Amino acid sequence: MSILITGGAGFIGSHLVEELIKRDEEIVVLDDLSSGKIENIPESDKVIFIEGSITDRKLLRELFSFYNFSSVFHLAAVPSVVKSVENPVETHHVNCDGTIYLLEEIKSTDAVFVFASSAAVYGDYLKNPKKEDMPVNPLTPYAVDKYASERYTLNSYTLYGTKSVALRFFNVYGERQDPSSPYSGVISIFIDRIKRFMKGEKTEIIIYGDGKQTRDFIYVKDVVKAMLLVYKNEKAYGNVFNVGTGSSASLLELLEILKDITGKIPPVKFAPERKGDIKHSCADISKIEEIGFRPDYSLKEGLKKLLKYE
Ligand code: NAD
Ligand code: UD1
Repeated sequence: MSILITGGAGFIGSHLVEELIKRDEEIVVLDDLSSGKIENIPESDKVIFIEGSITDRKLLRELFSFYNFSSVFHLAAVPSVVKSVENPVETHHVNCDGTIYLLEEIKSTDAVFVFASSAAVYGDYLKNPKKEDMPVNPLTPYAVDKYASERYTLNSYTLYGTKSVALRFFNVYGERQDPSSPYSGVISIFIDRIKRFMKGEKTEIIIYGDGKQTRDFIYVKDVVKAMLLVYKNEKAYGNVFNVGTGSSASLLELLEILKDITGKIPPVKFAPERKGDIKHSCADISKIEEIGFRPDYSLKEGLKKLLKYE
């Protein structure tokens, strides 16, 4: 039996592939390489790579009839909030329809389904930390699609008995996070600019808004730890869990930590706040802690590891 990882050529997906190889699992990666890279996938005879889209129902049907998947980790998505604001139709097709297409294939199997949802579903409630039973307020097409996919995921448990779990990732950072787009994760962009600055390049850091917005930044290895904790845990099925550290930092604090580690940072420029941007985001992680999760890295520890300043 093998494990299907959609989006396995991406940042978070490739770390999951790496960990599952260590556990001697047979893995199939389905990815259209729209934001992922083939080089992200570790070379191993344990991994089969299929280039294709989760929106291709014929391909999904063929995959599910050929392989007997024991689990499906669904990470494929257009992960940029800004892109969803600019192209809501295209991103909806991938971020929501793609999830339903996968669940339709899984319905007649015994596979576990783990869905990569997002803290974005909470929107901008002033109340922090965010708890799973709080009302949601999805403010962007990305967040609406993540919430809808989450509901399809949880309904598949109640309606069809699928062993499904939705994980609300907070802001993930780590190795292989691509900094090349202006929509990339903020830590990957800031670190890229710092490295360029250290090489003597003329560059700057841009902060959208006043820099006081906060995020619960979680190191990718802790996110993988959470995924591997839930997929074989009966108690997790039919549930949604926050995956964060339980503490948050503002962008200004993030820059202070980066300066502390590296010694210097490029000049900082302020630009207008982005549309749909969330002001404060911090996870209450007591629910996932109850089933045994504990993050291994604080923001400073994760950044030091990422920057190889340990
Ligand atoms: P990523 O862009 O590195 O990974 C997404 C992968 O999905 C890429 O490899 C991409 O090529 C692939 N993909 C996109 N559309 C596809 C399609 N139609 N068919 C097949 N593959 C497709 O992004 P990431 O940060 O690794 O995000 C992984 C998942 O985690 C996404 O679902 C994202 O929404 C979610 N998430 C990420 C964060 C974060 O902070 N990075 C936070 C919350 C949730
Ligand atoms: C991120 C994820 C999204 C996930 C969500 C969960 C990415 C690209 N997006 O969205 O998939 O669902 O977390 O919480 O990983 N910023 C700057 N300067 C920059 C870049 C960003 O000031 O150069 C600001 C943004 O305006 C925002 C903050 O940094 O206020 C975080 O931005 P970003 O890393 O894009 O993450 P989210 O929008 O929180």
